[in-house]
Amino acid sequence: MASVAFERVCKSFDDGPPALSNVSLEVGDGEFLVLVGPSGCGKSTLLRILAGLTEPTSGTVRIGGRDVTGEPPGGRNIAMVFQNYALYPHMSVYDNLSFGLRMRKTPRTEMDRLVQNAADVLGISELLHRKPRELSGGQKQRVALGRAIVRQPRVFLFDEPLSNLDAGLRVTMRNELAALHRRLSTTVIYVTHDQSEAMTLGDRIAVLDHGVVQQTAPPLQLYRDPANMFVAGFMGSPGINLIPGKVENGVCRTAGGVVPSVGIPDGDCFLGVRPEHLTPDPSGDFKGRLEFMETLGNEVILHVSIGGTALVSRCEPDTVVGSGDMVSFSLNPLRCIFFGTDGMRMYP
Ligand SMILES: Nc1ncnc2c1ncn2[C@@H]1O[C@H](COP(=O)(O)OP(=O)(O)OP(=O)(O)O)[C@@H](O)[C@H]1O
Ligand SMILES: [Mg+2]
Repeated sequence: MASVAFERVCKSFDDGPPALSNVSLEVGDGEFLVLVGPSGCGKSTLLRILAGLTEPTSGTVRIGGRDVTGEPPGGRNIAMVFQNYALYPHMSVYDNLSFGLRMRKTPRTEMDRLVQNAADVLGISELLHRKPRELSGGQKQRVALGRAIVRQPRVFLFDEPLSNLDAGLRVTMRNELAALHRRLSTTVIYVTHDQSEAMTLGDRIAVLDHGVVQQTAPPLQLYRDPANMFVAGFMGSPGINLIPGKVENGVCRTAGGVVPSVGIPDGDCFLGVRPEHLTPDPSGDFKGRLEFMETLGNEVILHVSIGGTALVSRCEPDTVVGSGDMVSFSLNPLRCIFFGTDGMRMYP
């Protein structure tokens, strides 16, 4: 186990804009850090730099406090699990698991012990004699994880390891990964596109956009206290409502109504409200026209138009409102977040 630190890491490929700009990020020993961001924002590049597969243009990478920048991948003792688990098709599960150990000439008894241990942890002891083609997607995924575990790495790097699985299996494997981390408490950096994976697995989440770290924080803090409009919009599904408004003398005027904004500087802004904080309330003074509603069983999603801005309200399963109706909402002022027109968060 080891801590990881990126210090002002930059990476540019020949053409194109920088893939990473001044990335500084510390991951504690045993921490589970989730890396999220849109396609092409530099997530895989950052993992590859840590693994030693890609060289940074500038900056320093430390593992366990030691500067490993420029060192070959071999000595870093990092295990990487990819989206396509790339098992050797002609080898049994046992041979797939022990491949790396055999390459390193690990003694037979030690190898057996490590493989058996990983197989037990992952619940695949019964499958050791099978070939990959005789396994389900989730079982293959477990073998790929097992291959990483037997190496007893100091750091696990996961690059969307569950994205090949169907929704149900993803949730199962997600819970197993969380349990695995609790048991092994190895440092993990985990890339995903999946919000719920990020929220449930991460001790902290780092949000990357265009090669720049936007914010790093524990999941709930990121959700409740986004540093800017990008982070606010990236986390949460359905996404946060962003309503154009104008702040003057402690109130924010929008097309739907007026919200207190004590301490927020005067001027144009975006009022950010999560769908669960836009609540139908006959006595509320925030008004919008209902476009349509989605009844999902466990909740109802109202799609509302307020002065040309489309908003979403997430409410109780038995909510009934007529289409085309004007609906009144209440907004909890404590849950309103204000952003400047530059997208940066404005604090009271
Ligand atoms: N070997 C390479 N040569 C040139 N450009 C590259 C190379 N590898 C990555 N890039 C570019 O660097 C940027 C970041 O790529 P990266 O693969 O890190 O993105 P990502 O966040 O992992 O995206 P995704 O979610 O789609 O996997 C992209 O613009 C990509 O085109
Ligand atoms: Mg990638």
